[in-house]
Amino acid sequence: THIVFAASECTPFVKTGGLADVIGSLPQALREQTGHEISVILPLYDQMDEAYRSQLIPAGTLNVPVGWRSQGAALHKLVRDGITYYFVENEFYFGRHGAYGYFDDGERFVFFSRAVVEIIQGMEERPDILHAHDWQTGMAVAFANIMMPDLKSVFTIHNIQYQGWMTHEAFYDLMNVGPEHFPGMEWHGMINCMKAAIFHADKITTVSPSYAEEIKQPYYGEGLDPLLNERSIDLMGIVNGIDTADYDPMKDPNLYVPYRTSRAKKKENKRWLQRELCLPEDGDIPMYAAISRFVEQKGFHLLERILDEFLQENVQVVILGTGDYAFEQSFAHFAGKYPDKMVTLLKFSEATARQIYAAADFFLMPSKFEPCGLSQLISLQYKTIPIVRETGGLRDTVLPYDEITGEGNGFSFANYNAHELLYTMRYSLLIYSRPELLKPLLQNVNKSRFSWKDSAKLYDGMYKELLTL
Ligand code: GLC
Repeated sequence: THIVFAASECTPFVKTGGLADVIGSLPQALREQTGHEISVILPLYDQMDEAYRSQLIPAGTLNVPVGWRSQGAALHKLVRDGITYYFVENEFYFGRHGAYGYFDDGERFVFFSRAVVEIIQGMEERPDILHAHDWQTGMAVAFANIMMPDLKSVFTIHNIQYQGWMTHEAFYDLMNVGPEHFPGMEWHGMINCMKAAIFHADKITTVSPSYAEEIKQPYYGEGLDPLLNERSIDLMGIVNGIDTADYDPMKDPNLYVPYRTSRAKKKENKRWLQRELCLPEDGDIPMYAAISRFVEQKGFHLLERILDEFLQENVQVVILGTGDYAFEQSFAHFAGKYPDKMVTLLKFSEATARQIYAAADFFLMPSKFEPCGLSQLISLQYKTIPIVRETGGLRDTVLPYDEITGEGNGFSFANYNAHELLYTMRYSLLIYSRPELLKPLLQNVNKSRFSWKDSAKLYDGMYKELLTL
């Protein structure tokens, strides 16, 4: 079986978020477990690392018919760990700084989506399945379904908040398909790439079972809930894994002291970070961390509301990330107000992130919505207790600690309410101060495993079902 992935980002080539981690690790897991042949099609962005750029092999040219804007593209190839990567090069659309954020993002990714279909049509042998991810490749599913009706397709929703809206003129400008296909691409008078994919895909998946249920409700569905309800039998949730060989505190070269489950060694990492960040050095002060893009999705409104109250306790809070200006300013403000308790680092650094995962006792993720979430999984890998809101993938991967039964690998709260977060953080402090209660929780944290193994099996089951349809 040959499965073609199409996506807009992929580690280690280009990353802006969790999507890149998934595209960078799921194909390998599938290949190892099932032996399927996997190809991944990506845009060639300007910022692609020179180390990889120099490995590209020319693989021909494409003509990409997107209406009167039809253009050529150069195709490049790279084989890594048994996976074939195709890169679509077009200077006008992708020779820019960064991956997204341009006024013509819709057009750029319609072009890319159409290129995906051209690549598939040019392949020596027709692949079995097109598996596209998020709105940027949504139109690839629509084009494939229209032009190659017997090619099976899967569309995975990583975040339904971003849908790729364009004015309806885009249909005549770019799509190169007959007018009968307008309704399948249109949503409330606009062209909507994610809607088009949900309409056309044979199967729709999202990155956790809870999110698959949630997006059928108006609160989470971002306007697409009616359509998802119609397609409910073809919609399923499969939780993401992480690359456990990469996120391994025993082998992570960024850490001060490597560790497996030793609390003593973890504390050494905490003391090292305290020194680095000029916080009082004391291995026993509980440290809370957040590492994220600062966007509303991640629940930062709740955190900024209660920091003043929480910082009255004997705690330390470390925040790393960049994003909305208002959040950056407010976290910088609290760090200034409580210099011996809180540090805000307004940057993104993979090495610093890992050092914080290793140092912290608790990891904060009070998300408003969370399709899957990878940070809570990384935090568990680094034996750091997650504190989450019960939504989407957070609900599916973090079980709240129950002192009576001794079950649970973290803390959670239900409502999107700042004082529920505060209460939960205070409760975590209480457990932290009671070794007999903390011990079973830490044992459960140590036992949590989130490799791709089980999820790759679920994807494979879905592919098999699809091929027998
Ligand atoms: C998006 C979602 C996140 C998910 C990731 C990978 O970034 O917001 O919850 O983990 O995609 O699927």
